[in-house]
Amino acid sequence: MIRRNRILRQSASVRGMVRETTLQASDFILPVFIMEGQQVKEEIASMPGYYRYSLDMVIEELQSCYALGIRCALLFAKVDGELKDNTGKEAVNGDGLMQRSVRAIKNVLPDMIVMTDVALDPYSSFGHDGIVENHKIVNDKTVDVLARMSVSHARAGADFVAPSDMMDGRIGVIREALEMEGFHNTGIMSYAAKYASCFYGPFRDALDSAPGFGDKKTYQMDPSNRLEAIKEVRMDVEEGADIIMVKPAHAYLDIIREVKNEIKLPVSAYHVSGEYAMIKAAAKAGYLNEDQAILEVLTSIKRAGADLIATYFAKHAVQLLKRNT
Ligand code: PBG
Repeated sequence: MIRRNRILRQSASVRGMVRETTLQASDFILPVFIMEGQQVKEEIASMPGYYRYSLDMVIEELQSCYALGIRCALLFAKVDGELKDNTGKEAVNGDGLMQRSVRAIKNVLPDMIVMTDVALDPYSSFGHDGIVENHKIVNDKTVDVLARMSVSHARAGADFVAPSDMMDGRIGVIREALEMEGFHNTGIMSYAAKYASCFYGPFRDALDSAPGFGDKKTYQMDPSNRLEAIKEVRMDVEEGADIIMVKPAHAYLDIIREVKNEIKLPVSAYHVSGEYAMIKAAAKAGYLNEDQAILEVLTSIKRAGADLIATYFAKHAVQLLKRNT
């Protein structure tokens, strides 16, 4: 025998030497749920071990993540019911919870990259990502609000805006609005290939943002489609996106790889709330080892082609990586 593949697997040192994919703290984007109030830290029922924080408490949490090496936070605001409407008024409020959060976090942690979710669902009385007319989500009026929302996030100090709404043409309009207002250094991470997935369920509990009628299939993509992901991604690149996202991640590894092969931009993938919840539930039942599952799944997402991974396991993963080295 002249080909012995097991030579390269014979010890931890040799395996380490030839390892192709390794995770590090700078790979991770930490999603953060912020709510009004003081000294509040509420566990999300369908996301055990994950919390909504009031602004004072979130700063402490982010400081501890920063100390571990995490450098990017993706912010989501839980909007009080009475502020929700069908125009996105609160979404563009310069003193809204999101805008105040960005200012407060950048003030304390100027080197933390702050990204903001841009979509209307947490602000919408209908729980939809856009403005609703006659039970339909209207595209162009929504895009106008998303552009104003992006500018207000940039004005508050956001490093990147992250449009997660899947309206047509929004990247170009947002880029233009940022340019017009002088925000030449604000990046856009586009949720370019975002599928209409059941795996967002726990997130909608976290923000109380489930659609009030219908579903999101007229704007988010059909999970059966592959070519459509490439079409979406190419358009967002042409319109000026800086980072492209595929979402969800674990169930869409093929799409991540295809997008990575297709474009020459950083690719991110969102390991979403339901994908988090599945691992948590299986581990709690004793069906698998949580620590091993986290590292295996996140490594697989990176191996598939993700340069960045948004994951609720970011802090846990970094702690495991530190322990393992
Ligand atoms: C809002 C948004 C959603 C997620 C990120 N931004 C929910 C949705 O589209 O319904 C999902 C994240 C997750 O499930 O972890 N547009």
